[in-house]
Parts: sequence; C-alpha cells; structure tokens
Amino acid sequence: MWSRFSIRFSASSASVNERRTGVARLSGQTGILSVYKGGGPDMLESMSAMTAEEGRLPKNGYERFVRPLLFSMDAETAHHLTIRLLCGASHFNVALRALKSFQPPSKPRTVFGLNFPNPIGLAAGLDKNGVALPAWAALGFGFIEIGTVTAKAQPGNPKPRIFRLPEQQALINRLGFNNDGADAIADRLRRLRNSERWPVVPVGINIGKSRATPLEQATDDYLYSFRLLRDLADYITLNISSPNTPGLRELQEPQKLSDLLRAMGKEAGATPKPVVVKISPDISATELKAILAVCEEHQVAGIIATNTTLDHSSIPSQLDQEGGLSGAALREKSTAFVREIAARSTMPVIASGGISDVASAREKFQAGAQLIQLYTGFVYRGPGLLREIMDKL
Ligand SMILES: Cc1cc2nc3c(=O)[nH]c(=O)nc-3n(C[C@H](O)[C@H](O)[C@H](O)COP(=O)(O)O)c2cc1C
Repeated sequence: MWSRFSIRFSASSASVNERRTGVARLSGQTGILSVYKGGGPDMLESMSAMTAEEGRLPKNGYERFVRPLLFSMDAETAHHLTIRLLCGASHFNVALRALKSFQPPSKPRTVFGLNFPNPIGLAAGLDKNGVALPAWAALGFGFIEIGTVTAKAQPGNPKPRIFRLPEQQALINRLGFNNDGADAIADRLRRLRNSERWPVVPVGINIGKSRATPLEQATDDYLYSFRLLRDLADYITLNISSPNTPGLRELQEPQKLSDLLRAMGKEAGATPKPVVVKISPDISATELKAILAVCEEHQVAGIIATNTTLDHSSIPSQLDQEGGLSGAALREKSTAFVREIAARSTMPVIASGGISDVASAREKFQAGAQLIQLYTGFVYRGPGLLREIMDKL
C-alpha cells in the first residue's frame, strides 16, 4: 500500500541535549521572560509538565505561567480555551495591541510572489475554522494557514484525540478534520475581510477531503472548497497527507495527484492563486520523486514538508496512541525531506515538523526551506518562540 512505505534519510548531528542547551541560553533573552521575572506562584510552577533537561533551563513566561495552566487541562480543552481567548482578542484593538508585544522583528521575504513580513507561519490545524486571524497576525506570525477545511462540516473522530508527550516534546493527534465546513468558513472569512481586521500577512487556506466522500469523488470535494475559498486566500494548500482520514494519503499517488491538480488548474480563474501541496513524511524516496515530478508538471507553487508521521518508533509503547505524531520526534525526518526536495526541485519548500527553538529553525533553513511553520513547538514554547527564532536568524 502506498501510504505504508517509509523513508529513512540521514539524521542531523546535534543531540537532543545540545539542542535544548541552545534553548537555555536563548530563552533567557526573550522579552516575555523579562516581563515575568520576579517569580510566580509555586503552585503553577510545580504543575508544569517538563523534561528533566528542561528543568535545568530558564523558562520563558509562557512556559512558567501559561503552559502549566493549559497543561492542567486535557489537551483539547486547553486548545479550545486558547482559541476562544484569541478569537475574543481578535475583536478588540486593545487586546491586539497587547499581543503585539510578542512580535518579532520584521525580516521580509518574497516567496511564490507573496510578501511575507517574516518567514515564520502558523501551521494548519491550530486554527482550523479561521476564527482568530487578527490575533495570530498580532502575535507576529509572518503568515497564517487555516484549516484543514473540508467541503462538508464534520465532527472528527471520537474524543480523546489529542495527546501530549511532554518528555518527548511531542503530540499525537487523531482529530480527523473536525471543522465547520467550507460554506461556514467562507462566510466567516468574508465578514472578516469586510471588517478591516483582515490581517496584513498572507493567509493560506488548507483544504482536505470530507470523510464521508469516497476517494473516487475526492476531486469534486476539493473543488467545492477551492471554489468557495480561493478568493479569500493568498494561497491554497492541498492537504493530501493527514493520516487521520482513511484513504487520504492515497491521493499522493502520481496519477491521482495529477488528476486533482489538473482539475484545480482548470478552475484557477482570472487571478490564479498559488497552490501548494502538503506531503507526508511516511513516503519512500521513489514516491517523493514521483510527487515532485507531478507537482512541477502542474506548476505547483511550493511544497509543505511535512505533515505528522505514523512512525512512532521513538515513542515508548506505554505512551503510544493511534494518530499522527508531531514535534521533536518528527524533526529529523521532516528536515531530511526538506533537504531532499530542495536538492531535487526548484519549488520553494515550507518546512513543518519539530521546530521548537533556534537550532531546529536554522536547521530547516539550512536544509533549503524558504519558510517555516510552527505547531507543536508553539504549544510547548508559546509566542516568545517567534522572537527567539527571529532574533537569532
Ligand atoms: C493537533 C494537531 C492538529 C493538526 N491538524 C492539521 C490539519 O488540520 N491539517 C494539516 O494539514 N495539518 C495538521 N496538523 C499538522 C501540522 O500542521 C504540522 O504539519 C505537524 O504537526 C508538524 O509540525 P510540528 O512538529 O511543528 O507540530 C496538525 C497537527 C496537530 C498536532
């Protein structure tokens, strides 16, 4: 089966300990830490989930005060609380001004024709329904990818379906594209665009297949979302790599991908938007080569490498859960994909997977990424991570 092949590229050389020591030196210099210096409630401190290595490091304000509170709740409750707060903040200038205190310095770059104030983006999945765009921009993200959006609204898999692995600085999720559906999200985005709170940074919309849609009708399903959302997006991501929708990864097969991209190309309209493809880290080198050839043939604007992995070999079996693994455990594998794609193709690469400090961000750029995206690193390190990275790059 296509989706079961796995790939092994060369691993990066730094040990986990070396990487975390790098964080120790850097996190003490972040603005957030100085805001909170002077101590805090011991109770919160002791509630903090952290590794033995982390315990030796000065933590930033988020890690000391906010994360312990969030980690005292189950992962999905904490996620919804965070999104609700950021959604609320998105409606008030005073709240947005406060969030701007986290903003990193601007280091603009242009990739596939779009201007990015800095190369650090929000990865898909954190704001699936696009409810907090002004807040993400205020926090300093250089671009925001919402979704995955499906043609039909759907509840996703039964709970619990997000699991933290603090020792491994990782998450496992099997959410299964829970989202409000393309119609509702298009309405929400249209209202935001008319309200003058639309962010000044590029907005990507990540689209995927509805669970109820058979694989043979996947193209129509993607096209439905594409037609509704393309005018609201600066770029569209085709998600053909999430492991939690049965059959989805089969769309990485060259013929299926080619059919999908051809259909999207015909729908491009008068002002075509860049289309990027998000790939799985669980494909072989041969499969990757074939995907890149198809993407180049159809003038795909860029590749996001990578989505979560089904390779759980680094996770102790007593902690393991079904679902896609993200965070530090994915870092080397996804960096190897970035390096391989950059070597084989001229398509820009957006790196996603295990970015949680300066060293892991630098590794992606050195491997050839033009842009990077954060998810799990943001959950563990908070908004100070953006400035920490940008100050040192
Ligand atoms: C809880 C969770 C939900 C996610 N949902 C999506 C999604 O809806 N669509 C998508 O393309 N990727 C999704 N991802 C994958 C992330 O966008 C990202 O590619 C992956 O987690 C690797 O980056 P990280 O190690 O920084 O987390 C999700 C990841 C997590 C942890």
